[in-house]
Amino acid sequence: MRPVDIHPQQQRENAEPQEASNPMPWVVIVLTALLMAFGVLYIARSALVNAPALGDGRSTAELQGAAPAAAGTAVDGAAVYASRCVACHQASGAGLPGVFPPLAGSEWVTGKATTLAALVLHGASGALTVKGSPYNGAMPAFGAQLTDAELAAVLTHVRSQWGNAAATVTADTVAAVRKDTASRTEPFKGDAELMPLK
Ligand code: HEC
Repeated sequence: MRPVDIHPQQQRENAEPQEASNPMPWVVIVLTALLMAFGVLYIARSALVNAPALGDGRSTAELQGAAPAAAGTAVDGAAVYASRCVACHQASGAGLPGVFPPLAGSEWVTGKATTLAALVLHGASGALTVKGSPYNGAMPAFGAQLTDAELAAVLTHVRSQWGNAAATVTADTVAAVRKDTASRTEPFKGDAELMPLK
């Protein structure tokens, strides 16, 4: 084939491309290595900053949870209420009509401290009359979950909220009721068992 047979268009074209095996540029390798070294050093050298002034103000010791009801420590009844009771009896203490009885204005709450303590220690189920209305649910037992101090705090709290004004409940009272009712393994059967204690 004489050169003259090649069309000018063919002469303009580039050679076919082909894959080459190029090593990663050293700049990229060095940069990556430097970044990783920086990251490791940064984490290793940074101190655990846990200043109580930051966040919600609790110190590391508090967050690690020193025994919540150690003797002599004041327990926050409102906090116990908020974590253990509020789901059913509501923040307003009004309960849910027909389902969860009210603690606000309840004769069980403002009545005998020992009966109230027994009720919350062991729970209650079955027909129960509260403020003249019938309820028929299951109130969980808190004896195993809460200490005497925590129970005293939450009972004192509900006895002084929402217009209730009954005497405080001490941890000693709760301890005494816990001891007296130690043989009980089931919740109180509503009015049937609680009315006589009223
Ligand atoms: C799972 C829902 C639930 C939780 C949580 C709960 N209760 Fe109750 N509570 C009930 C029900 C239901 C009754 C009624 C039981 C019945 O009908 O026999 C009741 C009844 C009571 C009563 C007697 C009736 C009244 O309204 O006065 C008191 C007092 C009481 N609860 C206090 C508490 C306290 C204090 C806590 C938290 C430590 C608490 N309850 C947590 C459901 C609950």
